[in-house]
Amino acid sequence: MSALQSSAPLVLGIETSCDETAVGIVRGRTLLANIISSSVEEHARFGGVVPEIASRAHLEAMQSVIAQALATAGVNLADLDAIGVTAGPGLIGALLVGTSAASGLALGLNKPLYGVNHLSSHLAVDVLSDESELKPAIGLLVSGGHSSIIELSDPAKQARVLGATIDDAAGEAFDKIARILELDFPGGPAIDRLAKSGNPHAIEFPRGLAESDYNFSFSGLKTAVSRYLQKSPEVHRADLAASFQEAVVDVLLSKALAACRATGIERLIIAGGVAANSRLRAVAVERCALAGIELRTPPIALCTDNGAMVAAMTSLAVSAGVAPSAVGLEAKSTVPLTEPTWR
Ligand code: KG4
Ligand code: ZN
Repeated sequence: MSALQSSAPLVLGIETSCDETAVGIVRGRTLLANIISSSVEEHARFGGVVPEIASRAHLEAMQSVIAQALATAGVNLADLDAIGVTAGPGLIGALLVGTSAASGLALGLNKPLYGVNHLSSHLAVDVLSDESELKPAIGLLVSGGHSSIIELSDPAKQARVLGATIDDAAGEAFDKIARILELDFPGGPAIDRLAKSGNPHAIEFPRGLAESDYNFSFSGLKTAVSRYLQKSPEVHRADLAASFQEAVVDVLLSKALAACRATGIERLIIAGGVAANSRLRAVAVERCALAGIELRTPPIALCTDNGAMVAAMTSLAVSAGVAPSAVGLEAKSTVPLTEPTWR
């Protein structure tokens, strides 16, 4: 470790916005631990996350996940320089478990507390796999609740939203189509797997809002897929999954690359749960190479919800001199991407 790294802030980040109780520890931009306890199996039989169950699972898991993260990183609580926590957007009861735990730690250790935006954190995790200087980038943020195109200049302070979904998020579309196909929950990984044996060009599904700005719409695609299945129930399901996935991937990348061209920014970061999609990653590599755009996709384990991203976002905020949040800070169920941290 260089002298600079050893003096970089040691940050613990807590994520509880949905069904993952997750704690990450970073020193500066080096990842030291990333521990996740998921309650996904407890929700599976309901076909979606049940907020009460998620909150209870966070309470039960919190202490042991923090202890495992500290042990993995080989550090003590007293070594920490700051505590970060997802304070929104997310399920309010779930968020409150995280903000309460983080506030307690910050108060007990007398260390600064940072309430960070879950969405900004998805993009900030990219810095953990990048030694170079922070550069302006276009962010394509695709998760269960959001699909947005963002111009990122200083990730700890500034983000300009160029476009967002006007109806379903990309992940939500994956989850809904998976339900129609009677696949497992969460649907994204299940469609990804099924699509591997299908032909992505078997069915030409609509590309929503293809002609317009940087906004997305996935509800027409969802209707088209479900109508197709009703009319042709004998369709090869893998072809249907692959063709649906292709339509999502095509529209996400077309718009993200159009944003790169329009702004002259030559770097694209794809982040959020849907960034784990194998087809999105493969087509992004091809199209970015053709367009001369530097592509950044976090490792798959850091795309879906995790604590490392919260620690990374917090570390950026500490280094940028952002003021810490108050102990007992407000958890918010919705927060714009333009607010990476709040007091
Ligand atoms: O970022 P994330 O873990 O949680 C939210 O902040 O929402 O994203 C979860 C979403 C779910 O909709 C899930 O189906 C989707 O990401 N997802 C995927 C894949 N892995 C997770 N979608 C497509 N392909 C995948 N491999
Ligand atoms: Zn997320």
